Amino acid sequence: MSLLTRRRLLRRAALSATAAGAARTGLAGATVAGIAASTVALGGCDSPPERTTDPEPDRGLRFPDGFAWGAATSAYQIEGAAKEDGRGESVWDTFSHTPGRTRNGDTGDVAADHYHRYAQDLDLMRDLGLRSYRFSISWPRIQADGSGRPNQRGLDFYRRLVDGLHERGIAPMATLFHWDLPQALQDAGGWENRDTAERFAEYADVVFRALGDRVPVWLTINEPKTVVQNGYIWGHHAPGIRDEDAAYLVAHHLQLGHGLAVQALRASGATGRIGPALNLHPCYPADDSAESAAATRLYDGYENRLYLDSIFKGAYPQDVLDDLGPDSRMVRGVRDGDLKITSSPVDLLAVQYYTPIYVTGDGGTVRKWPTSEAEWQQIYPEGMYDILTRVTRDYGRVPITITENGLPCPDVPGADGNVDDAGRVTFLRDHFAAAHRAIGDGVPLESYHVWSLLDNFEWAEGYEQRWGLVYVDYASQRRVLKRSAHWYRDVIRRNGL
Ligand code: FCB
Repeated sequence: MSLLTRRRLLRRAALSATAAGAARTGLAGATVAGIAASTVALGGCDSPPERTTDPEPDRGLRFPDGFAWGAATSAYQIEGAAKEDGRGESVWDTFSHTPGRTRNGDTGDVAADHYHRYAQDLDLMRDLGLRSYRFSISWPRIQADGSGRPNQRGLDFYRRLVDGLHERGIAPMATLFHWDLPQALQDAGGWENRDTAERFAEYADVVFRALGDRVPVWLTINEPKTVVQNGYIWGHHAPGIRDEDAAYLVAHHLQLGHGLAVQALRASGATGRIGPALNLHPCYPADDSAESAAATRLYDGYENRLYLDSIFKGAYPQDVLDDLGPDSRMVRGVRDGDLKITSSPVDLLAVQYYTPIYVTGDGGTVRKWPTSEAEWQQIYPEGMYDILTRVTRDYGRVPITITENGLPCPDVPGADGNVDDAGRVTFLRDHFAAAHRAIGDGVPLESYHVWSLLDNFEWAEGYEQRWGLVYVDYASQRRVLKRSAHWYRDVIRRNGL
């Protein structure tokens, strides 16, 4: 076992002692370096809208004609209706119903009740002026047990949603898998079982044949890395496993599933475009030492190249393979021809950017910037510019869409009923400006989806973190446009800042 692997394992052991869900990118327990503690306490949400950390002026920035402004959600986080119309159970139903797994024992049983309120939510999107809406399809609504005959009532829901988007002039962007694996497939080994990749392609084929005539952009698997790290290394997400060896086999099978789904789309004759949705983390050395530079390189391998190289270059990064070692289940699990499948040509890359990572010489991490309410998130808009330009430089001019970027804030309606999330406005403005600069420097960025349209079930954090442009009063399910939503409407109208 390599030195860095041992250190990662040590880090994992340290993390396992932290509160559930605290470690979305493994940064819990990291030290704060280079900034005053009072700045950290700001958490991004208290800052006045005038403040900007971006070096460019924050006005007069116009995006290219046709640039699509959007917002994103995912099925388990907003739909609710967990037992309706033939929906089966997913790993997230099991996980959230297991005592101690989520904050306050929260579950997605009701969530934002979007399954019943989708028409009202579509009207909200129209009022905001959205041009694109990224949502996910719940696999257990389509195949309750993850295989076999599709459930027509499940398909009908998404057809109504997609038709409603078209009626309002909003382009649908559908993610096939946003973590809600049918529990029956988990019982058969989940993503550790190669067969799950085949089942995923079959499910994708069912969806393509039902909706392929009306969905212009498909995303295969949302953040495979989060399933690997949070689901299988730290166990803070479903299925709650802590087994690093299994985790990287899962990484391979997720990417195999991705490639098979791409092939299924082509075979179905549907005309839509398709690509992966990757959360990419720009990795920087924490200091000037040669050790930090080397550790950062390998860290980047695990965070970014493990996915980008297999999808865009048809090869896993050698440094990561060497670090895993020949006996790892992943290395043994890759069969001849698999990398041809994972690298089936895609039409676009969906990038989700939240935070940078600073790596020390011993393979640990430190914080350099203020964190948000999600303590794994350091607020660093330049990271958006860096990751976009790096992807274009290293992987060619594949069209890019940003499918997630956003900030959680402790939003509460004021006496006047309004939700004044000024910090989110600042955050988004600075990140939009960074994206604009990346476009100016040659990045083929075509759309931007804010996470999230609505406050929702934030996985292990339950309902405590609010990420929406729209406030949800969970008791009444009333929706309130936050200040950021009004501001975003103006951005969309002007097509810029
Ligand atoms: C991303 C997830 C999304 C949401 C945001 C905050 O990693 O894809 O569902 O939880 O983080």
